[in-house]
Amino acid sequence: MEKTLRRVLVGNYEDLPEGFGKTVVIEDQEVAVFKLDSGEIRAIENKCPHRGGVLAEGFVSGEHVFCPMHDWKISVKDGKVQEPDEGCVQTFETEIENELVYLLLKS
Ligand code: FES
Repeated sequence: MEKTLRRVLVGNYEDLPEGFGKTVVIEDQEVAVFKLDSGEIRAIENKCPHRGGVLAEGFVSGEHVFCPMHDWKISVKDGKVQEPDEGCVQTFETEIENELVYLLLKS
């Protein structure tokens, strides 16, 4: 059976920072939301698979974020850790409507 999507408001598109992320807390889950140079919005789990670094505080370059703790490079598009390190983080769908950014969560 298909799961329904729940929309959670992140904030105004214009207010989202560039170059690093915004932390969004939803119940017991933290999501890092990024506005890329291209203007696209991406959202990933806010916890580095290495030792739990806060990815929203990492530096963003192109389609990757660098963990602020030990500099692992993680794709904000598919959540994959880049070589030589390994692992992945969960990714989330987003939507922009009337200049507002939403996270789409499976419930
Ligand atoms: S906690 Fe992210 S690289 Fe170590």
